[in-house]
Amino acid sequence: MSKRYFIHTFGCQMNVNDTLRMSEALKSVGYAATADFERADLIVLNTCAIREKAEDKMHSALGRYRQVKLSRGALIGVGGCVAQQEKSKLLERSPWVDFVFGPDAIGNLPQILERVGQDRVRVVDTAWVDSEEYVFPRADAETSRGKVTEFVTIMKGCDNVCAFCVVPHTRGREVSRPFVDVLDEVARLTRVGVREVTLIGQNVNSYLGGISFAQMLLRTCEVPGVERVRFTTSHPHDLSDELIEAFKVQPKIAPHFHLPVQSGSDDVLKRMRRDYTVAEYLERLARLRAARPDIAVTTDIIVGFPGETEADFEKTLQLTEAAKYDGQFSFVYSARPKTAALLKEAEWGVVPHEQKVERLDRLQALQKRISLELNSQNVGKTLEVLVEGRSKTDAARRFGRTPQNRTVNFDGDAPAGALVEVKIERASASSLGGVQGRMLSPAPVKIDEAPADAELCVA
Ligand code: 5AD
Ligand code: SF4
Repeated sequence: MSKRYFIHTFGCQMNVNDTLRMSEALKSVGYAATADFERADLIVLNTCAIREKAEDKMHSALGRYRQVKLSRGALIGVGGCVAQQEKSKLLERSPWVDFVFGPDAIGNLPQILERVGQDRVRVVDTAWVDSEEYVFPRADAETSRGKVTEFVTIMKGCDNVCAFCVVPHTRGREVSRPFVDVLDEVARLTRVGVREVTLIGQNVNSYLGGISFAQMLLRTCEVPGVERVRFTTSHPHDLSDELIEAFKVQPKIAPHFHLPVQSGSDDVLKRMRRDYTVAEYLERLARLRAARPDIAVTTDIIVGFPGETEADFEKTLQLTEAAKYDGQFSFVYSARPKTAALLKEAEWGVVPHEQKVERLDRLQALQKRISLELNSQNVGKTLEVLVEGRSKTDAARRFGRTPQNRTVNFDGDAPAGALVEVKIERASASSLGGVQGRMLSPAPVKIDEAPADAELCVA
């Protein structure tokens, strides 16, 4: 019987996508997936270092998996951003870990396993691959069979210098994937039934893979079978006129822009080294909304960055009101190794934890009110929904998303992959509810609705 693997994924879409590539590497050497870690012969943690909390979660998970090592001798590997950051320190701290591998070493998994299994050595593979030599792992479209929507990596790394962020240290310099490879992957995905793709990278609008990012989006929309194209994540300083123009001319570019602002205070933005002002950000946003009036905008905010005063924070509340975000991902600032903010925090002034949490609560309450207000405007409307499968909260209902990326749970029987109209009857701050109407376009292939990512455990 083949050996079984279990991957526990933390963090962002890049990691979710990297987990798929890890699965493919493991399958190529005879492993099969299991959804039950207690039966696994190999457990891999694909980790995130963005905030201390994510790192803490991974250490407690690692403690749980130690039992599986003791009971059945499972191999334990740590990949992802914490692996890149901590390297051999992880082996010292957790003696039951067999190997540590960085994001550039996913393709080396078969060789790493051979060394661990046959030579009985513990391995650390966190070397950077030079930009010119880096080859993006080629996705196997079969991995995505059964999915309606899929991520496609278009670049890796980040050349920005945001003072709070560990990513440039864990993912290295930007490298763009040649556009022909991206388009080829998209075409292969549509053949197995995928209708929506999200182009991903830490900083997609500085893409340099042979054509501009705006052209990359337009070309992706032209791949036969592609219904919607999304992307994430962006830095406001590369929101070019060309990209705004693409939103105007190509309706398949889904009307949703995730544009992290981080703070509503120019003083804080300057210390964060974000190189735009709130006024410049709002001006870009206004141009985007003029080009595509139905666009939904979401953002990321950090509260309690070193030196953030009550007045600074109130400016973040004011910006939240002014920008009318459809949604926000907001976090308390977490000091990260090697970052500029960590070096400067004594000089700038650390915001006490209770104050950070109190500010986060206020911001989240405000955003909840705005999200509910905006979502409620959809009640009574008929919206186009791409069906993804069963509702996660009620298996008798269906689940899908609008072009704006709003989640909709509805009564109906449309199969995954179909594009249908849904009459909206209810709204909450996080989702919409309604009843299926007209079928706009049937599913291109029959999708087996056994949960496609049963083997994935995303924290
Ligand atoms: N502390 C808190 N939040 C952070 N982010 C990035 N680094 C930190 C940090 N040190 C947030 C930013 C980013 C999102 C992915 O995570 O808002 O946009
Ligand atoms: Fe976490 Fe950033 Fe790494 Fe993604 S790239 S896993 S968010 S640290």
